[in-house]
Amino acid sequence: MQIQKSRSEQAKFDFVSGLMQYNSTGLGKAMTEFFVSNENKFANSKSGTSSEVISDIGSIMNDAHIYKFGAFFELNNHALMFKTVLDILENRRDEVEAWLDDINQKNFLGQLDLNPEIEPPTYYKNIEIHTQPGNYHGDFAGFLYHWMIGPFLVHRDDNDEMGWQLARGVPDRPYKDILDLGCGIGKSTFPYCDIYPDANVVGLDYAAPMLKYGHRLAEERNKKIHFKQAHAEETGFEDESFDLVVAIWLFHELPPKARDKVVREAYRVLRPGGVFAIMESPPFDNLIDEYSKLSAFLLDSTGRRMSDPYIPGFFKEDRKEMFMRGGFSNAEDVPLPNDLTGWGSGDSYFFGSYPWWMTIATK
Ligand SMILES: C[S@@+](CC[C@H](N)C(=O)[O-])C[C@H]1O[C@@H](n2cnc3c(N)ncnc32)[C@H](O)[C@@H]1O
Repeated sequence: MQIQKSRSEQAKFDFVSGLMQYNSTGLGKAMTEFFVSNENKFANSKSGTSSEVISDIGSIMNDAHIYKFGAFFELNNHALMFKTVLDILENRRDEVEAWLDDINQKNFLGQLDLNPEIEPPTYYKNIEIHTQPGNYHGDFAGFLYHWMIGPFLVHRDDNDEMGWQLARGVPDRPYKDILDLGCGIGKSTFPYCDIYPDANVVGLDYAAPMLKYGHRLAEERNKKIHFKQAHAEETGFEDESFDLVVAIWLFHELPPKARDKVVREAYRVLRPGGVFAIMESPPFDNLIDEYSKLSAFLLDSTGRRMSDPYIPGFFKEDRKEMFMRGGFSNAEDVPLPNDLTGWGSGDSYFFGSYPWWMTIATK
């Protein structure tokens, strides 16, 4: 939807977007420099469990001016961004709601199946994940997510680059039925329409406001997608309905039991020989041993600071074992190029530089 912002709305939005981009790329270098010059003070930073290493790094970083400023800036910058977007939308509430509710038009390529009986997961009851007002099920969640994620990812994902990374990372096979779990506004779903134009591409999410936005965005971009409102733990699809099931940035937002249930559900709906693949940042152990201890600390602490409470536990998880518990017998972790942080050269990015982490298995 094209929203004609007033000049003052545009100016405010540009200002907040600029701050957000600065937060993502302007502070990382200074934090890395501080960390490197103080590395000798980190007693456990060369050994110990990931929790010990992270807490060790925290004992120094938590008092460092650059980190304290970065943490303060991240929280308040997000708050300002969300408030700015909500103000713009509230000023046009009727028009925006009418656009969101205008679904399943006759000439649309795809469809949206909403289910008013779907409640938000109980584990989101008292939290607003990554401080997004109203969580993913708040009225304008799709707009809030889309308008924030552009500057937050420094516009390096404006063409759904993360989604493309996983879509190119899975084996290239003639998939007929593809399911994207926690599809949000469809950014992780769109690439499959281009790579597998004959496939039935399905995006599933529990949150109607995300799906409505995704449905309208898909039509604007000529992508034929069947969106469905359901929980990833209980999709409602029959056994063995898909050849490929994927999820980007879903698992770090789930508590442990839900993670296990979603893997089991993916296993159930896959046909024999089908592929399940998820993409996230690397687990703490890999970050610490192979990429950046500071990144492990920053991811852990952002979860605690920014109301993403399942991040610390998820990043400690052995994802291959998680897949095995769900029924798969051959899971592997595969690092994928990460154009967002510029794998190998992204030390200015807030969270550091590391590959995307695909965990993949075949049924
Ligand atoms: C961080 S967003 C990622 C969206 C999308 N995959 C992308 O890459 O842009 C996580 C999405 O997962 C959805 N989600 C969270 N828990 C879910 C659940 N239990 N079942 C279905 N969707 C869920 C949220 O509504 C949100 O849209």
